[in-house]
Amino acid sequence: MITLSRVSKSFGSRVLFEDVTATFNPGNRYGLTGPNGAGKTTLLKIIMGMEEATSGSVALPDRVGILRQNIEAFRDFRVLDVVIMGNKRLWGALQERDDLYLKDMTDAIGMRLGDLEGVIAEEDGYSAESKAEDLLSGMGLSHTYFEQKMSAVPIDTQFKVLLCQALFGDPQALLLDEPTNHLDLESIGWLETFLHNYKGTLIVISHDRHFLNAVTTHIADIDYNTIIIYPGNYDEMVYAKTAVRERAELENKSKEKKVEQLREFVSRFGAGTRASQVQSRLREMDRLQPQELKKSNIQRPYVRFIPYEKPPGKIVLKIEGLCKGYDGVGVIKNFNLEIARGDKIGVIGSNGRGKTTLLKMLAGVLEPDKGSVVRGHQALISYFAQNHEDVVDKKENKTAFEWLKERKQGVYDQDVRGVMGKMLFGGEDAFKHVAALSGGETARLIIAGMMLANHNVLILDEPNNHLDLEAVSALGWGLHEYKETVIVASHDRDLINHVATKIIAFEDDGIHVYDDTLEKYMEFKHGIKK
Ligand SMILES: Nc1ncnc2c1ncn2[C@@H]1O[C@H](COP(=O)(O)OP(=O)(O)OP(=O)(O)O)[C@@H](O)[C@H]1O
Ligand SMILES: [Mg+2]
Repeated sequence: MITLSRVSKSFGSRVLFEDVTATFNPGNRYGLTGPNGAGKTTLLKIIMGMEEATSGSVALPDRVGILRQNIEAFRDFRVLDVVIMGNKRLWGALQERDDLYLKDMTDAIGMRLGDLEGVIAEEDGYSAESKAEDLLSGMGLSHTYFEQKMSAVPIDTQFKVLLCQALFGDPQALLLDEPTNHLDLESIGWLETFLHNYKGTLIVISHDRHFLNAVTTHIADIDYNTIIIYPGNYDEMVYAKTAVRERAELENKSKEKKVEQLREFVSRFGAGTRASQVQSRLREMDRLQPQELKKSNIQRPYVRFIPYEKPPGKIVLKIEGLCKGYDGVGVIKNFNLEIARGDKIGVIGSNGRGKTTLLKMLAGVLEPDKGSVVRGHQALISYFAQNHEDVVDKKENKTAFEWLKERKQGVYDQDVRGVMGKMLFGGEDAFKHVAALSGGETARLIIAGMMLANHNVLILDEPNNHLDLEAVSALGWGLHEYKETVIVASHDRDLINHVATKIIAFEDDGIHVYDDTLEKYMEFKHGIKK
């Protein structure tokens, strides 16, 4: 069981939630929802003690597993070690012991080593590797991955490794921050089944409606500066939340009307002989004051990409005999395609098939092994990388405004502020440090950068990861309206359906191009009809 007692959190003048008391029970599966920047990740960090609440306290079981939003942070570690890191105390002791063995032995070091061995024994460190191996095998991972670095394994496999990390040590509660980012539909289905079988307390953050509906028994929603737990799944929460709000608004309206009538009476007879009646009406007016309804934190950005004034030639990208592989395994083999001005292409396929590899070569940030990608006359590309940290370096001490200003030479401050307003960085928010931005805010900033830059070809690699529902739909609209070329890879069927009129599909037997919408492609491929 996890209990929050009167927990509040704010950053400066910005209140995320105030005075929240809530209980999360074992056996229940809670979805934690709210738009980008609502404070979901912050709440998980508060629960884990990684971030301090402004006030209030949290009670939680001894063993809690967490899956963070930052899959990239583990790139350079060995798969088995990543799992063992799930036990912080053990991992710390193992690291320190290894460091000390490299030094010249002294009495002090000998003593410390003794202490560390004690910790390692207490935490069952000698069977840690074999336990980690059991977990990984249970997750369906092949032994060949165990000794490899995280960066060398496919991204869905990396995700499973991190899930094993969260499960290492048999946690009584499991906290997952956006687990479906980076996962294809098949892996998401697998995760849903997996979570259904978990017996402890589960709290999972997600912007994926389908996933939340399939998994959760309750929704904890962050809005109106508080957290309310609703029984049921996501759609049921939205329904209940809307109904409560509508009732409150209706009540307010009828109060306002009544107050208006009373006011009229008072103004008509206030100076006259009916003093006692006027007094009683004044009291009634006081009593009826409509309650102040807090503003919802749900907001919709406005995404609009304006093409560079100089148009490109008819063919914007010419791909010839393209080949790329890693460690001798071919990912893309002899791929040919001419992308014409105005094409709207959806790139689909399961994890690890090479979508990102292809997009990187199209964007010119990765060299092919063989073949070529030739840019057409005056083609100007703007690229949204799957890994946000490739673009926004969170270690740099920069504000969102400063980062954005660097996207376009000589741009005026007011133009930067204009784009920021559209992407919901109004007022003070423009000067937030990039390191403080939430996952979705970072994605919004990158999109703002694309809106500002000069381009007539947009290439986007899973841009919907981290974004909330409002932002994904605004992005879909923006890409749909763009008059030039769009190439977008995504597992989000709604987004691809909205934008693409051509499909590049990574299939079992290679890459195929279809001159059709995703809907038509699905009908053709799987006999799926709407
Ligand atoms: N150190 C900080 N200083 C100032 N503001 C911060 C800091 N850390 C986080 N914030 C802000 O607090 C808000 C909540 O951030 P959080 O990461 O919890 O959001 P989230 O609900 O997880 O969003 P997302 O869906 O985008 O992941 C954001 O607006 C973020 O910019
Ligand atoms: Mg978050």
